[in-house]
Amino acid sequence: MTESCTLIIFGATGNLAQVKLLPALYSLHTGGMLPDALRIVCCGRRNYDDATWHEQVRASLAQHARIPFCGDDCDNFCTRIRYFDGDLDESATFEALDRLLEDAAFPDNHVFYISLPPASYEGIVAALDYQGMLDERHAWRRVVIEKPFGASLDSARELQRRIRVHLREDQTYRIDHYMGKAMVQNVLVTRFANLMLEPLWNRNYIDHVQITRTERLGVGSRAGFYEDTGALRDMLQSHLMQMMALVAMEAPVSMDAEDLRDEKVKVLKSIRPIPAKSLDTQAYRAQYGPGEIDGEPVPGYREESGVDPRSRTETYAALKLYVDNWRWRDVPFYLRTGKRMAEARTLVAICFKQPPKHFFRSAHIQHPPPNWLIMSISPEESLRLEITVKEPGLEMKTRQISLDAPFRCEHHAKTDAYEGLLLDVIEGDRSLFLRYDEVEWAWRIVDPVLNAWDAEAADMPSYPAGQWEPDTVRRIFKHADQTWRHHLDPET
Ligand code: BG6
Repeated sequence: MTESCTLIIFGATGNLAQVKLLPALYSLHTGGMLPDALRIVCCGRRNYDDATWHEQVRASLAQHARIPFCGDDCDNFCTRIRYFDGDLDESATFEALDRLLEDAAFPDNHVFYISLPPASYEGIVAALDYQGMLDERHAWRRVVIEKPFGASLDSARELQRRIRVHLREDQTYRIDHYMGKAMVQNVLVTRFANLMLEPLWNRNYIDHVQITRTERLGVGSRAGFYEDTGALRDMLQSHLMQMMALVAMEAPVSMDAEDLRDEKVKVLKSIRPIPAKSLDTQAYRAQYGPGEIDGEPVPGYREESGVDPRSRTETYAALKLYVDNWRWRDVPFYLRTGKRMAEARTLVAICFKQPPKHFFRSAHIQHPPPNWLIMSISPEESLRLEITVKEPGLEMKTRQISLDAPFRCEHHAKTDAYEGLLLDVIEGDRSLFLRYDEVEWAWRIVDPVLNAWDAEAADMPSYPAGQWEPDTVRRIFKHADQTWRHHLDPET
């Protein structure tokens, strides 16, 4: 039975808490997954009383809950929630919070969720420690830290150096919500619960791998955060490199947190650093200009509210990476992400090599398409295998067919990544959270690219909002016949 605890959310009035954390907790509550005694303390600066806050929670659940919203369930959910206001820069705030948590209504085990900008992580952890709130003599204490952890290799190291004075690694839960997505976990299961893929899963049979997350959304109201972050830090250094680690890793000794993370680290450690001279053929960035989404005009990035009209922040980033180990040497891994693109899609696409000889090549097709295995993570949740077969009829002509399987049947409920991850924190399972060395090795790869981009005088390419990336991205492909897999269906 899961131990009960008090979950303290710093930044509860912010976007992440309203759109993700509270809806996830509400689903867990309604599904009977939370311990009965679990309490939630929502911390914010605004001076609300509980009744006003509960109204606000109702409003955000009505808008963002994954499950159908029900007033009674919501009232019941709100009985778990207390609002606490205070300025997190003041030590008096932590003294008052500590006093509140001493009340017998709040279970002694505490999860502190820092749902605030990265600049606040260190101060909050230090303040909790000075107040004795991380002391585990009588109950456990865990701290959840959002991404990005640092903004560069140096700043991540510095943040870690300062945090570890107050917090042990096994109390630290660095969250990457992609690891909580059922479909991302399916990459692991598909690989390690089926022997048939294993003999093919290497440089002898795989031509290249593509990992894509494209979005239709623009920067929205997050310009303040995004201007200093950009696509490479926001998505690629974290989510995409985590997915890459799952695709490339060896089978772990067990699915325990340390074994799983050891294998991911080995992949990240084996990624060949990008030398300055190869930057042009291994890294690419671009920024969206004005365009159209669903037939409606939308502004370019530089015209978005809160964005510098001369901004040099990339909204699209792509890297070609090599994993220098026995399994993957010289197989390119193409990672790309962008905002305001033609489609919103998350794919892991594995392109196999051509057979050594084409006996069945039809006269009109000079280059028969290769086999692809595509794990679609969103919007479809499916596995697709494309193979070449004979076309019906008397002639020996070939065509491509696909074996498609949805991962989810109608009776399988959809869950949100944060639901599973919040439950893992409460249960003390760190396997899907990032260990510090994973973060550091990922920074080592992207850091030289960020520095080179910073130093570049030339303006970056631009793409109209609502379209795919500029064609000049093709310079990162190793071979001329490699090309992005934009859709689940092959381009015709
Ligand atoms: C977040 C990024 O981590 O992931 C956002 O900060 C991005 O910029 C989001 O939009 C994408 O998440 P998902 O689950 O929609 O792919």
